[in-house]
Amino acid sequence: MSRHTRATLEPGMHKQLLDVQERLATGTLPQWVLTDPTVFNLEVERIFARTWYFIGHESELPNPGDYVTRWYINDPVVLTRTKSGELRAYLNSCMHRGTMLCTADSGNRKAFTCPYHGWTYSLDGDLIGVIADDKVYGAEMDREQWALRQLPRLESFHGMIFASLDPDVQPLDEYLGGLGWYLDILIGRTDKKMEVHGAPLRWVVDANWKIGSENFGGDAYHVAMTHRSTVELGLSPKDPLFTSYGHQVVLDQGHSMSVITKSPKLGPTPPYQGQPEELWSNFERNLTPDQLGVWRDAAVFHGTCFPNLSFLSPMHGAGGHAHLTNFLTLRQWRPIGPDKVEIWSWFLADREAPEEFKKESYKRYVATFGPAGTLEQDDVEIWTRITDASKGLMARDKDLSYGNVMNYVMGLDRVDPDPDWPGPGTAYPTTFMEAAQRSFYEVWNSLLMVD
Ligand code: FES
Ligand code: FE
Repeated sequence: MSRHTRATLEPGMHKQLLDVQERLATGTLPQWVLTDPTVFNLEVERIFARTWYFIGHESELPNPGDYVTRWYINDPVVLTRTKSGELRAYLNSCMHRGTMLCTADSGNRKAFTCPYHGWTYSLDGDLIGVIADDKVYGAEMDREQWALRQLPRLESFHGMIFASLDPDVQPLDEYLGGLGWYLDILIGRTDKKMEVHGAPLRWVVDANWKIGSENFGGDAYHVAMTHRSTVELGLSPKDPLFTSYGHQVVLDQGHSMSVITKSPKLGPTPPYQGQPEELWSNFERNLTPDQLGVWRDAAVFHGTCFPNLSFLSPMHGAGGHAHLTNFLTLRQWRPIGPDKVEIWSWFLADREAPEEFKKESYKRYVATFGPAGTLEQDDVEIWTRITDASKGLMARDKDLSYGNVMNYVMGLDRVDPDPDWPGPGTAYPTTFMEAAQRSFYEVWNSLLMVD
């Protein structure tokens, strides 16, 4: 048993998880697993403590001394840039009595001083100041013993910073695997890369974290109904299949992504999701012809990096398809209980994009996603209802459908992967699939059973 693991798997729960595994193989998922408190404790210990967890973007801390405060599930974290420019992540808790050192969302410091008794730590985490130290502790106090507790692993990919509590976790590159090819398109496509604008938006919703992960991971099917107001306002096409055109891509380790291509009924549309023409040659320098090809015809990208980081790159706006504006948001579903999630949402733009475009892009993001976003409101209302309806006794014997929503395109083994898809993963030639969601739960289920 790893030193991080305290939740034990009772024989009864082990049997139930084996049952979940069998059901997943037939395209169903027992509803009780969404909100069960024992399952939640296992998720924290066996999934979140052992995989990579997104904690921010390098552009949020451009200068030495910059810091942001974050949460790794229930551990407060301070992420900082040291004098020599390195990134470090510490448990945001004093070594003396445990006081949280920083409560601001972000800032710049030369050192961190505890507000309780005044122990002071350098940006490197060393204990550099103790009030009246010699008189209180004697000259022989071993300060090294009281350096801040560092998160065991910290690695970046295109500026996205991930941490892990497991010192033996596989390297981040390897963990992302084929997903990296798609993240190149979304976040690694320009010479100077992307930067976060503003502070991440965050808010709490009475929903289980898995619902957000699986929705962004592969649920293009909900759009026509959940976001029906956009159809009624004439912002989305009436064709109920308009989000089905494209590919759902199932990747290793529970990751997945979908590319919704432009509906054939929309007519000619600009390439690269309408990104400004002055960036095109920049994209062409940084991406392969296959990556450019996938992006050229895309209307929307959405996906999930297992377990709880999702991304979305849609086009939104009013006034016809030629006026839609693309934006990129990263969103983390931070579990704070079996039926509560804190949503964190970052907006990113290419550093080299024209300022006007960045502004328009940010406006579209705020109008559609985030706590004031119309589309986000649609989604979280549904997720709350799912969570509320999953806690009762009757939900214990109820299976949810994960393989047969539209028989002619969805369903187990009914659609063959597209052999011509140029990117990594198993790509199905429609986004109305539930292969991604099943893969998410299969990986989730197998990790829960590992001691
Ligand atoms: Fe931080 Fe005492 S709790 S100095
Ligand atoms: Fe949605």
